Amino acid sequence: MQSITLALAKGRPAKSTIDLLEKTGIHFKDFHEKSRKLVFYNDDRTIKLIFVKAIDVPTYVDKGAADIGIVGKDNILESQADVYELLDLGIGKCKFAVAGKEEQALEQSRHLTIATKYPNIAKKHFDKKGQSIEVVKLNGSVELAPLIGMADYIVDIVETGNTLKENGLTVLEDIEQISTRLIVNKASFATKSAEVQQLISQLKSALE
Ligand code: PRP
Repeated sequence: MQSITLALAKGRPAKSTIDLLEKTGIHFKDFHEKSRKLVFYNDDRTIKLIFVKAIDVPTYVDKGAADIGIVGKDNILESQADVYELLDLGIGKCKFAVAGKEEQALEQSRHLTIATKYPNIAKKHFDKKGQSIEVVKLNGSVELAPLIGMADYIVDIVETGNTLKENGLTVLEDIEQISTRLIVNKASFATKSAEVQQLISQLKSALE
């Protein structure tokens, strides 16, 4: 068997993903989601886990630095990486939505300013509707933008809805359901087919 490199996204779903891998018998001894360590090995060292920023996971996989990635669909869509998406782990379920002030309806015809951490997803969504937008790219706390007049609306992830609610915002339009997915480098899918398939079938059994 060849060894495989697995890129795991830091963030909310990391712990649940590690728990799922444990269920399949894959154990990373020193792993802790708060650890500053970036590389971990399973017990028989057949899997090298690299623990990286979620938005970078699709890039590691696309470039072949990792054979497999486990990351949210949000980051897969935003990165536009050329990878195979082979399994939905059902972890970290949430959605992309357009949100704005509670008293405001979503204007469907005029040019809009949209604040978001996800410019590609925002552009694609409004392109499909034939509506032109200007994107204000932020790296966090996007909910602030409509409150201070920096943008008309936001495109962001909504999980519990608490962040929107606490800032007097609401969902005006759903875009897409998202969850944690397993992605595979296209070359690795051919050259490490047995290893990739084995991991996928172990995860599928653990999910049942
Ligand atoms: C994400 C997202 C929302 C929030 C949604 O932000 O961008 O702000 O979570 O979650 P909720 O619906 O459960 O409230 P994150 O926690 O990653 O922090 P950030 O704003 O600093 O990016």
